[in-house]
Amino acid sequence: MQKEHLGAEFSVYDDLSELNDSDKSLLLDAQRAATTAYAPYSHFRVGAAAHLSDGRRVTGSNQENASYPVGICAERVLLSTLSSIAPNAIIATMAISYESDEVASNQPIAPCGMCRQSMVEYETRVKAPMRLILSGLSGKIYVFDSCSDLLPLAFHHYHLGK
Ligand code: THU
Repeated sequence: MQKEHLGAEFSVYDDLSELNDSDKSLLLDAQRAATTAYAPYSHFRVGAAAHLSDGRRVTGSNQENASYPVGICAERVLLSTLSSIAPNAIIATMAISYESDEVASNQPIAPCGMCRQSMVEYETRVKAPMRLILSGLSGKIYVFDSCSDLLPLAFHHYHLGK
C-alpha cells in the first residue's frame, strides 16, 4: 500500500489591478455576462466568458426554470453555445463571476461538479487546457492553469472504452 496525494497549485491575486489586460477584460466580460442571467429563483446570477485561441470571445449565464433541475449553469450554457457555433474551438481561458441579491460578491466561486465534468471533457475533446479565472465583483481572484486541476481523477471517455 502507498499513499498518494491529489491537489493543484493556483495563483491568488488580490484584485483586478494585478491581472494583465487580457485577463482583466475577460473577467469584466464575465461580470457583464452575469447581468444577462435568468435567475428569478436563486437571485444568484453567474456569468462566464471564454477567450478562444483565435481571439474570439463567447459568454454564457445561468438560465433557471420553475422546475429547478431544468436550470443550466453559466459554464455549460457557454460550452453548449460554443460547441454549436464553433465545434472544437479551443478555449484558452474562461472567466467566471457572479452577482447576487442575497450575498456579497466578494470572493471567488468555483464551478459546480457537473460543470467541472463538462469542462474537463471539453478540454479533453479539444486537447488543450482551459485556464480558469474565478472571482466575484470584488475580492481575491483565483487563476488555475487547467480545469482538470479542479477535478482530479475525472471520469473520462476512455473509461467507457470509447
Ligand atoms: N450556478 C452557475 O451558473 N454556475 C456555478 O458555477 C454555480 C451555480 C448557478 C446555478 C443556479 O442557477 C444558481 O447558480 C444557484 O445555484
